Amino acid sequence: METATGYARGMLLNAEAAKAGQPRAPGADSPAPARESVVPNPESDPKIAVAGLNFYYGPNRVLDGVTLKIHPNQVTALIGPSGCGKSTFLRSLNRMNDIVPGTRVEGSILIDGQDIYAPSVDVVDLRRRVGMVFQKSNPFPKSIFENVAYGLRINRMTRSREELGGRVEASLKAAALWDEVRDRLHASALSLSGGQQQRLCIARALAVEPEILLMDEPASALDPIATQRIEELVYQLKDRYTIVIVTHNMQQAARVSDVTAFFWLGKLIESDLTNKIFTAPAEKLTEDYVTGRFG
Ligand SMILES: Nc1ncnc2c1ncn2[C@@H]1O[C@H](COP(=O)(O)OP(=O)(O)OP(=O)(O)O)[C@@H](O)[C@H]1O
Ligand SMILES: [Mg+2]
Repeated sequence: METATGYARGMLLNAEAAKAGQPRAPGADSPAPARESVVPNPESDPKIAVAGLNFYYGPNRVLDGVTLKIHPNQVTALIGPSGCGKSTFLRSLNRMNDIVPGTRVEGSILIDGQDIYAPSVDVVDLRRRVGMVFQKSNPFPKSIFENVAYGLRINRMTRSREELGGRVEASLKAAALWDEVRDRLHASALSLSGGQQQRLCIARALAVEPEILLMDEPASALDPIATQRIEELVYQLKDRYTIVIVTHNMQQAARVSDVTAFFWLGKLIESDLTNKIFTAPAEKLTEDYVTGRFG
């Protein structure tokens, strides 16, 4: 597996080449001399553009003027102390917070340039496009097959049993679970181990062909081996998806993400290439957090 640092260096080289109007450097992932970090492809269109986001639970403002661009086919890690608003921010990206009474949003969130809070937006379709995986795996008390087929059925996304079966298999393969469950697809999902259940939830999210995958501490309840499998999976999935992951594990953020955003008391303090955040952050607060001086 390529390291986060190696990847970050490759991105730097590409950004430099893009600035100079050169084609993408071959072997750009190989180590480059250290130079000032830039956020990847700053001029390219972001997949998600958040601007001036304030979020309120009743009278309490828990996100304060958050502005962040999230780039396609990258892993963006959200870090910061408990209660700083990471989950709230993540849930605002697919309007999952809408179901909490008394909440209010100010500012804008564009996905592919479209305002997701515009009145014309179909929220069900938005949540299909922006899938979510939670900290505690939450399979339905149904079979392994039916967990993955569920979203395909309710969204009427397949026309035949064969097509449904094929899509379930492809999703389980994409979530790196197929080999472990192919012989027991009709067993209860609750008979799987914790790590397998979490990969099943990822397969369920992938089945409906999202563009963006939001993951809220997806490995925090797992043992080191299951955690490693999830991390490898995240790394592979970014070829096809834009991934935003919340984690309290600094090593995990460093391993899996391209960009890291540090939140503190509802504010986005700093976001940059992960390599930069962990080696030379611009803000003292970020440095104190990533070096474990508080949190
Ligand atoms: N449903 C809710 N109703 C009211 N307040 C909430 C609700 N959910 C979260 N909050 C508050 O919003 C703030 C941000 O919470 P959030 O869950 O987004 O933080 P977090 O960074 O994800 O924390 P953690 O690392 O502990 O998961 C906290 O002060 C929390 O108490
Ligand atoms: Mg949280």
